Amino acid sequence: MLKKKRALRIGIFDSGFGGLHVLRSVVRTLPKYDYVYLGDTARAPYGDRSQRTIYAYTKQAVDFLFSRGCGIVIIACNTASSEALRKIQDEYGARKKVLGVLIPAAEEAVRRTKNRRVGVIATRSTVASSKFVRELAKLDPNTRVFQKACPLLVPLIEAGEHNSCETETILKKYLAPLLEKKIDTLILGCTHYGILKRKIRKIIGPDIAIVSEEGVVPEKLKRYLARHPEIEETLGTRLRTRFYTTDRTDRFEHLGSKFFGKKIRVEKAVLR
Ligand code: DGL
Repeated sequence: MLKKKRALRIGIFDSGFGGLHVLRSVVRTLPKYDYVYLGDTARAPYGDRSQRTIYAYTKQAVDFLFSRGCGIVIIACNTASSEALRKIQDEYGARKKVLGVLIPAAEEAVRRTKNRRVGVIATRSTVASSKFVRELAKLDPNTRVFQKACPLLVPLIEAGEHNSCETETILKKYLAPLLEKKIDTLILGCTHYGILKRKIRKIIGPDIAIVSEEGVVPEKLKRYLARHPEIEETLGTRLRTRFYTTDRTDRFEHLGSKFFGKKIRVEKAVLR
């Protein structure tokens, strides 16, 4: 039998820059594959939009990634995973593989918590969808979940203000009610928040476990590909990564290089 040519890529989608941080750890864990990253910066933040709009934007983004030769797409954006993943998976069926990020984070939180009190910080839409609450309840009905929407964080990060004192002040305000609930595990339920991990650690102290996407997605993907050789065998291994944005490429190159950890060259994507 003719062996399938290894040519397909792994697609990673986020509403903006946040997912670059996730891609960076995925590439570190699985360096041999070819990746395509898409940040929909022209329409970010997604976090305050309606379910209908988030679905429409996410579908266009996923279609774009498949049109760029992806064999598998990871929706790294929690907001898009909460509001659009299930519908998109149903539509594609077994033909095209689309993975989300909520379940791996929920599984890790249940593994880490000892007092069964888990905090979740996320966008307004993710919190309103209660997806984390439901996934955690399925895994352990005795775990109590405390959520906090943090609508100001994504705009600050997208504006390159992740290191500012203002961001730290706002973070403290968002985290205070969760600390009052005596959580011992905190899920960073938004790709962007990984960028703030050091600041978050400083505020919550050393004893609360932090679960973030860049910590769980790479291993999860590795295990997924090991379980699915029919997909793994189609993936290209030319060590190439392409970056796309729906907005200004110069801005994405500047800020994106910081979040990805090295200089990137970015192309313009038109979604329809
Ligand atoms: N990065 C997205 C997430 O993980 C949210 C950012 C946004 O609001 O666009 O939820």
